[in-house]
Parts: sequence; C-alpha cells; structure tokens
Amino acid sequence: MRQKIIAGNWKLNPSSSKEAKELTIQIKEKIDSKELKKVVVIVSPPAIYLTQIKELTENSKIKTGAQNCYFEEKGAFTGELSVAMLKDTGIEYVILGHSERRTIFGETDEMVNKKTHAALKKGLIPIVCVGETLKERESGSTDAVVISQLQKSLKDISSNGKNLIIAYEPVWAIGTGETCSSEEANRVCGLIREELGRILGLSVAVETHILYGGSVKPSTITEQMKQSQIDGALIGGASLVADDFVEIIEKTLAVVES
Ligand code: PGA
Repeated sequence: MRQKIIAGNWKLNPSSSKEAKELTIQIKEKIDSKELKKVVVIVSPPAIYLTQIKELTENSKIKTGAQNCYFEEKGAFTGELSVAMLKDTGIEYVILGHSERRTIFGETDEMVNKKTHAALKKGLIPIVCVGETLKERESGSTDAVVISQLQKSLKDISSNGKNLIIAYEPVWAIGTGETCSSEEANRVCGLIREELGRILGLSVAVETHILYGGSVKPSTITEQMKQSQIDGALIGGASLVADDFVEIIEKTLAVVES
C-alpha cells in the first residue's frame, strides 16, 4: 500500500549551517507532535549539512536525503561524493537526475542510470526525476520525453517498489510559480506507472511511489494529493519556509485521513 511522501529539496539553500539547523528545528517542532500516519516527510539539505541535520532529526519524524551522488565508489573524482559517503551520514534517500542537474551540470540519462544503480546497490533510495521542458510540452512530446527518460534512467535496474521513488517534475513548472494542473500531472504520473510496469513488472509499479514536483504550495497541495496516481510531492521553494512546508504536510495528512 502506497503512502504519501512529502520531500523538501533545499537546493543551494540556506547559506549557513545555523540557518539550516533553525529551519530543521522549526519543522521538527511542528510535526513531531503529530500522528503522521501514512505521510513520510523527507528533507534534502546541501550535502555539507547532512551530518548535522541527520543528528538533529534522529528519533524525529523527519527523514533525510541528499540532492545528488556520484556513481564511482572512490578515486580521482574531485568534488564528488560517493553513495557510501552519503550513507555514512545515516541518510536514506538521494534525489537523482533533477532537471537542474541535467540542464546546468550536463547530467545525462546514462549518468542518472549509473547513479541509480550505485544508490540501489548500497541501499540508498533514489528519487529519480523526469520531466519535459516547455518546448517539449508545446511540441506535444511530453509523453515521449518522460517515457524515454524513465527507460534510460532505469535501464537494467531491478528494484522492488519500496526502494525506488520517481518524481515527475515538468521543467517549466519548477521555480516558476506555474503548476501543472492536477489532472494533467495525474495523467503523466499514470503514464509513468504504466511504463514502470513494463520495465520493472506490474507488482513493482503498483507499489512504487510517484511524486509530483513543480511550484507545489500550500494552496495547490490538496488537489494534487487527491489524485490517484500522485503519491506525494517534491518541493523546492516552499520547503524552505517552515510554515509553508508544515502546512503542506498537514494538508496532505488531511487528504490521507479523509
Ligand atoms: P519548486 O522546486 O517547488 O521551487 O518549483 C521543485 C523542485 O525543483 O524539485
């Protein structure tokens, strides 16, 4: 049975460990007293804060993830972090193939695939991101782009539905304030699930969590979480404002309970 996953992606924020700590404490204080039932909460701070945030969230309801990893285990790869290093901090998740990594840092589906293999091998749960650009949407190639990214990113992967998360993030909706309509996001997430069925088998597809990401806000979350194919949200901007992030969690909980 799938749960709802609310995952914050802090990107290159905040600017100091003090602020990262404050944000975490604000979220923690508000959600730890709640019965979260089937809502899983994840925060993904910049890697340099992971050890600190992991310690702060020990025995709390907040789980932690990284925003990237490298696929090699060790060696001459200046500036990179291996899955083992990330695992060593105690975190459980890693976001892979985010559109900012793809467009700004030149990450390809093949690299995302290698990183997904590496994460699964060492027991980090990858949150694999896929999504079309505005140009691709306008030219009618959304479905083909998303399916191709999924097929390539998951090439030769074997996983059960609990060890893998997919995030559908239309690039044009990320950080723009423009959200994809809930119905359309649900349709694409359904398409992703169908494709997962072909790649990993039907029982895995049914169990795999598929998140929506792109300008998710407290005002949009309820409709999004009511959709049958959307199992949570990957949230950038609103995850940096403790009150907004907590409101998103509360509204998700209300949908789960209704
Ligand atoms: P946003 O970012 O919520 O600020 O649009 C989402 C993401 O990049 O994962």
